[in-house]
Amino acid sequence: MIVLGIESSCDETACALVNEKGEILSSVVWSQYDEHRRFGGVVPEIAARAHLEKIDLLIKEAMDKAGKNFKDLSAVAVAGGPGLIGGVLVGVMTAKSIALCHHLPFVPVNHLEGHALTVRLADKSVQFPYLLMLTSGGHCQILVVEGVGKYCKLGGTIDDSAGESFDKVAKMLNIGYPGGPNLEKRAKQGRILKDLFPIPMKGKNNCDFSFSGLKTAVRFYIEKNQPLTEEQINDVCASFQYAVTAEIEDRLKRAIRIFKEKYPIGRHLIVSGGVAANQYLRSHLNELAHQNNLTFSAPPIQYCTDNGVMIAWAGLERFQQGLTGTFDFKARPRWSLDSLS
Ligand SMILES: Nc1ncnc2c1ncn2[C@@H]1O[C@H](COP(=O)(O)OP(=O)(O)OP(=O)(O)O)[C@@H](O)[C@H]1O
Ligand SMILES: [Mg+2]
Repeated sequence: MIVLGIESSCDETACALVNEKGEILSSVVWSQYDEHRRFGGVVPEIAARAHLEKIDLLIKEAMDKAGKNFKDLSAVAVAGGPGLIGGVLVGVMTAKSIALCHHLPFVPVNHLEGHALTVRLADKSVQFPYLLMLTSGGHCQILVVEGVGKYCKLGGTIDDSAGESFDKVAKMLNIGYPGGPNLEKRAKQGRILKDLFPIPMKGKNNCDFSFSGLKTAVRFYIEKNQPLTEEQINDVCASFQYAVTAEIEDRLKRAIRIFKEKYPIGRHLIVSGGVAANQYLRSHLNELAHQNNLTFSAPPIQYCTDNGVMIAWAGLERFQQGLTGTFDFKARPRWSLDSLS
């Protein structure tokens, strides 16, 4: 069984071929950083046009690298949303065309389901149900993954996502685009000043997140201490990263209690999405899982940010369960994961 996965929901054009053993036959990712860098963020119209320009070439490259033809495929999967609608449309129309021409099943996949299931490709010990911290550029949610297409949301952000706050803080500090990885690098050279920034939802009686107040606190600090020295910038990065991690840990502590009560057979805590590439966060969540007798796992770092592998794998898991789509599927700018349940 071989599935082609296509991803184009934000600023990465990506394709991959994956088989049912979880072997990655090929994976190509073209990041549009250079297109968006001078704007300091993703410009949707530019992103859509760039996807259109590259997608055919990338699919050909992925097929060639895997040494496969379209007739070798079992299905074509695509991120059908949520995301920037222009880009999603490019991916969906391309996937439909390939599926129609080659008489293949068409599997639209929720992009977040891609993030949610990828861990199972690399770590076969991860069984349902598992507790998932999904932290990406557009989302910040705690979910129980009960099965393919079965999600129970325990909490989510009431304003921004953690990834967006990494990007905005990096922009305020002028440390380059993309923000998250650059901020992590600078944080390694900085001191963690625990009281510098607030941990917004600490102790709140739910599993929700908030990051807008934290961003504002960083902005006030920067404005008050102009011009910042390189050391101060590093300290802001380390202290901000600490506050985000502490917020996630605090919210997860509550979620773990609920998870253990409602799903006593659950064994795993998973972190996924772009922010899961952050090593500081990963090591803290590993520790948290350990303290709570859970096993920690996360996708390999290169499959945390957007890629075709996660879409191919989620498509394969769906296809195996007979959960394919139809050609009247419409690209979706918004599509919540728990609505799949
Ligand atoms: N090392 C890192 N540390 C912190 N944040 C990171 C790191 N690497 C990537 N990120 C953040 O991850 C985000 C990108 O993740 P991803 O590609 O999953 O987002 P997206 O696809 O745009 O959003 P979504 O998946 O919610 O639709 C960006 O906000 C980026 O700053
Ligand atoms: Mg993503």
